[in-house]
Amino acid sequence: MRALILSGGHGTRLRPLTYSQQKQLIPVANKPILFYAIEDVIEAGIDEIGIVVGPNKEQVMETVRGVDWDADIEFIYQGEPKGLAHAILVARDYLGDDDFVMYLGDNILKEGIVKHKKHFEKGNFDASILLQEVPDPRQFGVAELSDDGKTIKRLVEKPKEPPSNLALVGIYFFKPVIHEAVKNIKPSWRNELEITDAIQWLIDHGYRVGWTKVTGWWKDTGKPEDLLEANRLILDDIQRNIQVNTKAQIHGRVIIEKGAKIDENTVIKGPVVIGKNVVIRNSYIGPYTSIGDNCIIEDTEIEDSIILEGSEIQNAGRIVESLIGRRVKIINGTSHPLGRKLVIGDNSRLIL
Ligand code: G1P
Repeated sequence: MRALILSGGHGTRLRPLTYSQQKQLIPVANKPILFYAIEDVIEAGIDEIGIVVGPNKEQVMETVRGVDWDADIEFIYQGEPKGLAHAILVARDYLGDDDFVMYLGDNILKEGIVKHKKHFEKGNFDASILLQEVPDPRQFGVAELSDDGKTIKRLVEKPKEPPSNLALVGIYFFKPVIHEAVKNIKPSWRNELEITDAIQWLIDHGYRVGWTKVTGWWKDTGKPEDLLEANRLILDDIQRNIQVNTKAQIHGRVIIEKGAKIDENTVIKGPVVIGKNVVIRNSYIGPYTSIGDNCIIEDTEIEDSIILEGSEIQNAGRIVESLIGRRVKIINGTSHPLGRKLVIGDNSRLIL
């Protein structure tokens, strides 16, 4: 079996971060989201991985190549993203006649894909999908099951009136017959070739589509609040690992990487991850916070937030539920005229 991991798209809902960074490369708990997908696929015993890339292809390739993976990884250029089924069309040659798992690179799944892959293989299905109950299914693909719950009757993409609360998780197993399906569907109202429609085509043409339920948490990290939630969920599972000497007060499950300098006037309450060469003085870092490499934090309280690498925050009061990009400076100025002096990128969001 091969894997096709999708790492293209514009990530408009994550602007301004996605003006300069591909959305799947934004870190959660200091690791690019995309890496969680690669790790899940390798854990399931798949060692041939195709990563579909779009406009920021160089960035994705460089980041992925920076790690020595236990798999052969190839990159497939999608050009303009025209939907999930379009990614399969573009990867036709790479996939050949192999079965494959398609994994959306912005999805994170606690339990990995091992048991879902087993279900697909044992049941000898033509396709198998993962489902999870969600409070608001309208933003996902939604499945309607048969009365006995054994088979899938119908799939609809982002329905206004969902037939159930079972959302399609962004992970799909396919036999090569899916190539016929993606050739036979038409673009949707949002002008995309929908994978949901391709799977519906399989159902309509008598192919066997299985399903499994996701029991642990699953997160589609399309919006800032999803990233913060994914950060909380990942941090909930970390183990204490402190790689530096520090006289700071450190409570609970905290990871501190090499080279970090944290002074004795700082208090850290886990779960927290602090990256390499971070400097923290006279500050409080509270639960569910990830601080990227080379950040400087002084005289500030931060809780429930993601701070990306190289940012400097000084005397900034209390920061909560925030997502702060790379090399951002937040300082409390003292020069006249006093007041907030802002240099903020397009589509930024400040709640003061
Ligand atoms: C896509 C799929 C949708 C699925 C979701 C999971 O949505 O079209 O069916 O439920 O991924 O993350 P999109 O991310 O394109 O809005």
